[in-house]
Amino acid sequence: MPQQQLPPDSLPLASSLASERVKVDEHRVARYTRRRDGRHLAEMDLVERVFPELPNGAPVLDAPCGAGRMSVWMARQGWRVSALDLGGPAVAHTRKSIRDLGFEADVREGNLFELPWADGEFRAVLCFRVLHHFAEHSVRRRLVAELARVSGEHLLVSYLSPWSATGIKRRIKALLSGKRHRQNHTSLHQLRVDLREHGFELIRDQPQRRFFHSLHLARFLRVG
Ligand SMILES: C[S@@+](CC[C@H](N)C(=O)[O-])C[C@H]1O[C@@H](n2cnc3c(N)ncnc32)[C@H](O)[C@@H]1O
Repeated sequence: MPQQQLPPDSLPLASSLASERVKVDEHRVARYTRRRDGRHLAEMDLVERVFPELPNGAPVLDAPCGAGRMSVWMARQGWRVSALDLGGPAVAHTRKSIRDLGFEADVREGNLFELPWADGEFRAVLCFRVLHHFAEHSVRRRLVAELARVSGEHLLVSYLSPWSATGIKRRIKALLSGKRHRQNHTSLHQLRVDLREHGFELIRDQPQRRFFHSLHLARFLRVG
């Protein structure tokens, strides 16, 4: 995704910018879902470790769902899954994968910044591997605000930490080249401040692999 300056109030622009990341063709969706590599397994493991225990039938949201790997896992847990993504083929693939397993799910094509669900509708909301695509803090802040709106209890957000070997390497490279890296790092402190505004407190912060990997999954709980 190219680095562009987003006016803080520009939702359509945010979505069109993000749509460059949409898995537009079927081939790309299929390739993504067949991934069995170490990185994919490590990411699944990260989500499984951090997700709260919830009873059967608990309403959960996976946004963005991409090709649905997390949504499928959630459906297998017996939870009532809703999912959303901008990409039509990705949405169709997620819907079919869940249906093929014999589960029902509410999978929609839509924009993360305007989620089509009511306040507090979900017991847990997962936002995995998208926050770092938004270069501007004002846009990331709007995104977490919208996710917080629909979560009545838990909110899990992945972010790229600046305090990792990769994060430090990228910052040095950016300093030397004068260009921002396309993966944007967010400090946990900033995420906590942004979510505190919406009544959420940090419960757990889990790196994929301490210090080496910049990918973290943070779990927040609604306290206010
Ligand atoms: C790297 S994928 C991650 C998908 C999924 N969470 C996973 O881990 O497999 C990022 C996804 O974000 C979606 N996306 C980006 N901006 C979006 C927006 N504004 N609204 C909805 N989906 C968006 C893209 O279509 C893409 O499928």
